[in-house]
Amino acid sequence: MAENILIAPSILSADFAAMGDAVRSLQRWRADWVHCDVMDGRFVPNITFGMPMIEALRRNTALTLDVHLMIVEPEKYVERFVKAGADIVTFHPEASNDAHAALKKIKDAGAKCGIVLNPDIPVRAAEPYLDECDVVMLMGVFPGFGGQKFIRDVLPKLTALKELSKDRSLVIELDGGVTEENAAEIVAAGADVLVAGSSVFKSKDPKKTIEKLKASGK
Ligand code: DX5
Ligand code: ZN
Repeated sequence: MAENILIAPSILSADFAAMGDAVRSLQRWRADWVHCDVMDGRFVPNITFGMPMIEALRRNTALTLDVHLMIVEPEKYVERFVKAGADIVTFHPEASNDAHAALKKIKDAGAKCGIVLNPDIPVRAAEPYLDECDVVMLMGVFPGFGGQKFIRDVLPKLTALKELSKDRSLVIELDGGVTEENAAEIVAAGADVLVAGSSVFKSKDPKKTIEKLKASGK
């Protein structure tokens, strides 16, 4: 049985006019990481925020800042995100001119690094990077927006990635479409960290939702 499942609520579903309150609430609700979705309107058809937001969040929380870059040429910006306060930086390798170099830049700047695979990208695409990654994140939806339905075809990909991660200290994160109802099967398939935006921030009782998501590993 999986133990110690970590919950990383995505602030994409929080009130953008009250992000300080959002991260303070997350601490009270016993979230583990704060998932920050950076979108550039080019890699994905939506725009959110950049380094200044990470810097502002850093001043308001001691929680791990998990920064998910949905931007083209992430290698140009990763160091600045680490400097702004990111603890973990992940990006989509197909958006990068040199994903190996981007991973190294993140590590050298002092943060944990990882890559993200969209639902239609096979797990074997991650293999060339596994030895350099601390985290590999699989998308459970096509990135760009919160509140989408989980794509179940991703479940066997989680299991395949779990198998590949056996002899490595690799954390497997699943982002998108996580609910109280499907969390257990996502964890059973191999996820160590669950990103959950709308199911946490739109919950009537976010603390309880986070508790339930965590219990999905028991
Ligand atoms: C999607 C983002 C996700 C998203 C998750 O582009 O990367 O992190 O906020 O939101 P939910 O949990 O609502 O699917
Ligand atoms: Zn994300």
